[in-house]
Amino acid sequence: MDQIPKHIAIIMDGNGRWAKERGKARTKGHFEGVKRVRDIAIYAKEKGVKCLTLYAFSTENWKRPTTEVSYLMSLPKYFFGTYMEEIMANDIKIEMIGERKNIPIAALEIFDKAIENSKHNKSMILNFAMNYGAIDEINEGIKKYTNEVLKGQRENDLKGDEFSAYLFTSSLPKVDLMIRTSGEKRLSNFLLYQLAYSELYFTDVYWPDFDHKEFDLALDDYKKRQRRYGGIDES
Ligand code: IPE
Ligand code: IPE
Ligand code: MG
Repeated sequence: MDQIPKHIAIIMDGNGRWAKERGKARTKGHFEGVKRVRDIAIYAKEKGVKCLTLYAFSTENWKRPTTEVSYLMSLPKYFFGTYMEEIMANDIKIEMIGERKNIPIAALEIFDKAIENSKHNKSMILNFAMNYGAIDEINEGIKKYTNEVLKGQRENDLKGDEFSAYLFTSSLPKVDLMIRTSGEKRLSNFLLYQLAYSELYFTDVYWPDFDHKEFDLALDDYKKRQRRYGGIDES
């Protein structure tokens, strides 16, 4: 397989361990991680990726100390304040998935502004999963579907992958490749439905060290995969 994945989703993990190994505060790891978001977004766009979904904050991350949560919620302001010009110059469109509820209003306003200002950009979607959890997403989707059936707006005849229309990612292409950094081999409530047939790539590298070279390694690995979708290899 030689094509570039259309949609890549990344679990950006290992910021805390990166910082700890350097005797620094966890927040320093998150700060470095933000720079990689900028680098990888622009590089992915240059490589021809059409959509990049980044797991920025999970519905489980509220369990962290308030100081860390507050720091993470302040990062959108830093990110868009520092890089919005480059995002626009690269024709990148910002989107967000997750529950708006509980995200501080200041962070939401920053996102909304970035989404609005970039809505006509076409080269790549940079989609942030903020206060995102796949189980919540599926629950919401089930409620939406059930409501439509109860109101007589549709038959109770769901089939194939039609349910994807009820998920936060309904307008996005299918996820071709999911990358998780930091050596953990689990999904941590990320895109459970959408990853049904995605290729998975795990690397031990911590997110703040995930540079162009590491991204190329993931793309090279993807090119070697044979996606059979339950069929047989025809070559
Ligand atoms: C990922 O890095 C960033 C977020 C979850 C927001 P971590 O903060 O989880 O880093 P580790 O896993 O503790 O090293
Ligand atoms: C997943 O990483 C969430 C994000 C990267 C935003 P975590 O570090 O929160 O996941 P666990 O705790 O290792 O499962
Ligand atoms: Mg982690």
